[in-house]
Amino acid sequence: MSQNKRPNIGERSPSLKAVPFFTQLSEGEIELVRSLAAEKHYPKNAVVLTEGEMGDSLYMITSGKVKVFIGDQEGREMILKILGPGDFFGEMSMIDKQPRSASVTTLESSVFLVLSHASFEKCVEKIPRIANMVMRVLATRVREADRKIGTLAMMDVYGRVASTLLELAVNDNGKMVVGEKLSQQDLANMVGASREMVNRILKDLADRGFISVESKSITIINHELPPSL
Ligand code: CMP
Repeated sequence: MSQNKRPNIGERSPSLKAVPFFTQLSEGEIELVRSLAAEKHYPKNAVVLTEGEMGDSLYMITSGKVKVFIGDQEGREMILKILGPGDFFGEMSMIDKQPRSASVTTLESSVFLVLSHASFEKCVEKIPRIANMVMRVLATRVREADRKIGTLAMMDVYGRVASTLLELAVNDNGKMVVGEKLSQQDLANMVGASREMVNRILKDLADRGFISVESKSITIINHELPPSL
């Protein structure tokens, strides 16, 4: 369940300037976006959007993390993307007025700035380059989706796990680390395999010295992860 909050000027946080996406906007432009948006707070594991439902709002993540996934009737899910601060979602239905293409749930407690279609249009009217910023993100997403289709079609599960780890890893003091919020089940749902299979592959990669698996993270030791067994 979310808590709606339209912040008043006094409590607006200057920290948004540190969030990617907003770094491209001036303080005045951030203020404008905030004045047109509703701030919503969600706890961990909350459903934000449901695939197939109608909706026309765009969600900008100011803090927290979400997973974007599609599901089937047996309850299986395929994770399309993990998004964090500075990312946005919900733009597709906002733009084409079709049902939501995927579901979105929080992986940790999260705060969003939510813009209705009408508010987004006002933003674009006042800050036209926002439309370009959104288009660039959409182009990047299509590229990533193309890569993912290639990976799913052409690699075995071993290669898919390896390439997903490389895609998710972020530099943490010189080490490439896949962070704590991702469970082995989440990883399995990203590569279209069972948790048991992913567990075996992670163990094999660790035994061969390519990665080290800690309780809440995975460190990539050798970037030349093998594409197959
Ligand atoms: P919308 O279809 O409105 O609701 C679900 C949202 O998930 C969608 O907009 C996008 O914002 C997001 N989404 C869908 N597919 C992907 C993807 N492949 N990568 C990242 N985000 C996605």
